[in-house]
Amino acid sequence: MSSEHTAQYSNGLPTAIPSLLSGGYNHPLAREWQNERQLTKNMFIYPLFITDDPDAEDAINSLPNQKRWGVNKLVPFVQTLVDKGLRAVILFGVPLKEGVKDELGTPADDPEGPVIQGIKTLRKNFPDLFIMCDVCLCEYTSHGHCGILRDDGSIKREESVRRLAAVAVNYAKAGAHAVAPSDMIDGRIRDIKQGLLDADLAHRTMIMSYSAKFSGNLYGPFREAAGSCPSQGDRKAYQLPPGGRGLARRALRRDLEEGADAIIVKPSTFYLDIVSDAANICRDYPIATYQVSGEFAMLHAAAEKGIVDLKTIAFEAAYGSLRAGANLLISYFTPEFLDWLSL
Ligand code: PBG
Ligand code: ZN
Repeated sequence: MSSEHTAQYSNGLPTAIPSLLSGGYNHPLAREWQNERQLTKNMFIYPLFITDDPDAEDAINSLPNQKRWGVNKLVPFVQTLVDKGLRAVILFGVPLKEGVKDELGTPADDPEGPVIQGIKTLRKNFPDLFIMCDVCLCEYTSHGHCGILRDDGSIKREESVRRLAAVAVNYAKAGAHAVAPSDMIDGRIRDIKQGLLDADLAHRTMIMSYSAKFSGNLYGPFREAAGSCPSQGDRKAYQLPPGGRGLARRALRRDLEEGADAIIVKPSTFYLDIVSDAANICRDYPIATYQVSGEFAMLHAAAEKGIVDLKTIAFEAAYGSLRAGANLLISYFTPEFLDWLSL
């Protein structure tokens, strides 16, 4: 066969011209040009664990390179990251003092507690830093669940969402730019939106909803870091079942209707079909993936075993999220990416 659009290879078989791709990505820059979306520093949101001992700087065994910070130690650490181009953080409070946790999660929005103090410290020292707060009760309740419980251990929905909304409003009052409810209890976005409206804060507070958050085996290192493991039972009655793609789509639509301004899919790598669904359903909204503690720790463990190269696999994971449709990445690798990326 000979035609204008065939080329002759050494094995003698004719090759159609359109089948030749490699010339298009031989150069490193040409390879970068293949990205639909370029990974940039402003896509990264860094999780920060803040504890109630102001001078703490405790390594976290379960989470490589992460620490629990006291507010006094936070500023010099965050300064090094801001200097490298950090734009956004998400705060998690970790009360460690004996006896402060209760059934209602009172330390969540204690004015002297780690989150409120953390917000104020960061706002004062880093005027350009975008400050998000995870909104949940599990780090602050005596039982370790994400809401308020009945005697049988099930979630009291109305009381829980009312309490979560109060916490979110208090974070916004303290200066948080965004609140990110991760509890997964039905109807909380509506209550938070209404709470922000009533407090005259809705116009300056973004609600980034963990809309599609799955219950699985990937949050272990976080729960150790945050001391938020439920003392009894699990979170299967409120977080989504891993096979529940349709449920995730319903949760995404529901949260948009209730007033979410942006959404999070979590975990990331095992749920890229959900990210792609979110990119369709929430096409006019920012979409974040959360590469959770278990994913992060697994990549570190694999790198230590020599199975993967850490930097290469971190980029592969990040581009997986971008290809699937995310444009924001909540990642424990943020400090490294600030070194690795130039823009
Ligand atoms: C609180 C919360 C969790 C995570 C984010 N917010 C833990 C959980 O749901 O048990 C997980 C983050 C991670 O694993 O890195 N509800
Ligand atoms: Zn929780």
